Amino acid sequence: MIHAADIKPIEHRVSLAEREARSGHAGGVLWLTGLSGAGKSTLAFALEETLFRDGFQIAVLDGDNMRHGLNDDLGFAHADRTENIRRVGHVAALLAMLGYICVSAFISPYRADREKARQAVMRDLPPGRFHEVYVRADLATCEMRDPKGLYRKARAGQIKRFTAVDDVYEAPERPSLVIDTTKESVARSLATLTRFVTSRFAAGLGEKEPG
Ligand code: ADX
Repeated sequence: MIHAADIKPIEHRVSLAEREARSGHAGGVLWLTGLSGAGKSTLAFALEETLFRDGFQIAVLDGDNMRHGLNDDLGFAHADRTENIRRVGHVAALLAMLGYICVSAFISPYRADREKARQAVMRDLPPGRFHEVYVRADLATCEMRDPKGLYRKARAGQIKRFTAVDDVYEAPERPSLVIDTTKESVARSLATLTRFVTSRFAAGLGEKEPG
């Protein structure tokens, strides 16, 4: 922010509309939020594979991956998680502006941070390009899955501030879509997500987006 007054964004010479006309679908962000082990990454990468093979420009931003590079200076204190989501929100907006469907898979436990990510996208793109998806699974289910063994470590006190064990998760109040992975199979969740993306980003490009 220090030099913000001296910095003016430079416009791309290829417009979003031009990119979208070529790809045949809108650019935008599908923001997956939910507990560790709820299935965000599984669904994000499955969706990426399915829609990429169908000709979509689509890219996943995933918490564990981003924390290996761009965000490897951040931990899990409130301020670190906020900074994680702030950076990722801007990267997601950038990808969307370049015509991608960006699927972001982060716990993103704080409502205010998710709201800022939405605003970063809304600032740069036409309306209807940010959709929050709540990938919901109850804690008991996530703990039973424990794909990385982190819940076990959190319960043993070897990891501090683990989301939903000894740190907060603020569930979305009005998500665009809820995927309940406690009850339904990966295949069924994926089918729901694929239909959702197709209807929001690929149907009637340039027309008013449905609700
Ligand atoms: S967020 O809270 O800042 O949005 P993010 O999605 O990037 O989190 O990263 C979460 C991943 O980090 C989890 O899937 C898990 O593998 C790992 N992790 C390590 N420590 C923690 C912790 N204390 N709380 C949550 N996730 C953790």
